[in-house]
Amino acid sequence: MTAISKCLFPAAGYGTRFLPATKAMPKEMLPIVTKPLIQYGVEEAMDAGITGMAIVTGRGKRAIEDHFDISYELEHQIAGSDQESLLDGTRHIRDKCRFSYTRQAEMKGLGHAILMGQSLIGNNPFAVILADDYCVTEGPGVLAQMIRLYDQYRCTIVAIEEVPMEEISRYGVIEGEEAEEGIFRVSNMVEKPSPDSASSNLAIIGRYILTPDIFQILENTAPGKSGEIQLTDALLTQAHAGNVIGYKFDGRRFDCGSIDGFIEATNHTYKSRNYE
Ligand code: G1P
Repeated sequence: MTAISKCLFPAAGYGTRFLPATKAMPKEMLPIVTKPLIQYGVEEAMDAGITGMAIVTGRGKRAIEDHFDISYELEHQIAGSDQESLLDGTRHIRDKCRFSYTRQAEMKGLGHAILMGQSLIGNNPFAVILADDYCVTEGPGVLAQMIRLYDQYRCTIVAIEEVPMEEISRYGVIEGEEAEEGIFRVSNMVEKPSPDSASSNLAIIGRYILTPDIFQILENTAPGKSGEIQLTDALLTQAHAGNVIGYKFDGRRFDCGSIDGFIEATNHTYKSRNYE
């Protein structure tokens, strides 16, 4: 069975697209109906059997820690009232999971954020969720699907999705051979290529299972696109050794880092009552 017990959440980014809402509030705390984005991510990790939540935060992100902690005042006030059940979700998370935090002092890219998480993760394979990619599924969650695949392939797994070519420059892009339906052995990957240079429309979305050698690779990865240390560049080293699988997951992803995606996610969740 799988050895994956921890999920890393890079959560230090600014969320400038949502200013002024994100001036004093972490973008990960933006609510989809009643639950903050990061809580959906934590629930997806729990659905995959993970109980260790490792969160890379930064300045102005303390609300995330408070959200997953006890609020004694609120517990006291709501106890015995008909509103008490509203706290059941976060109580359940608190009972089942262990949270650990570290800070990324400087914004040097996703690869750098992952590297900052090393002290929380240790030397085991681990999952990564980028909370602003919000995923809904009919059956098992995306991470649960990926862990199943990890048990079979025992290497790094990245979630992928076909996106319109004109949007490709917002994503890391993979190229590879389709080994089984929806499962690609990755041979090349590029961070945010222009539409005319992109070799496919298979975009990486914010779900990864990473093997721990990624940390050493990241340490030796030079700044790439936008002068930042890119996870995609480090993954390319693993891909060249034949150790990266791209997986077209079952489900639907909303890009909650964009206003349109956020509104679509809100409407979808409200209609499906997924927030309860
Ligand atoms: C990051 C990754 C990119 C990936 C994307 C998914 O980019 O660098 O490879 O496709 O997440 O959301 P960001 O959205 O942080 O710019």
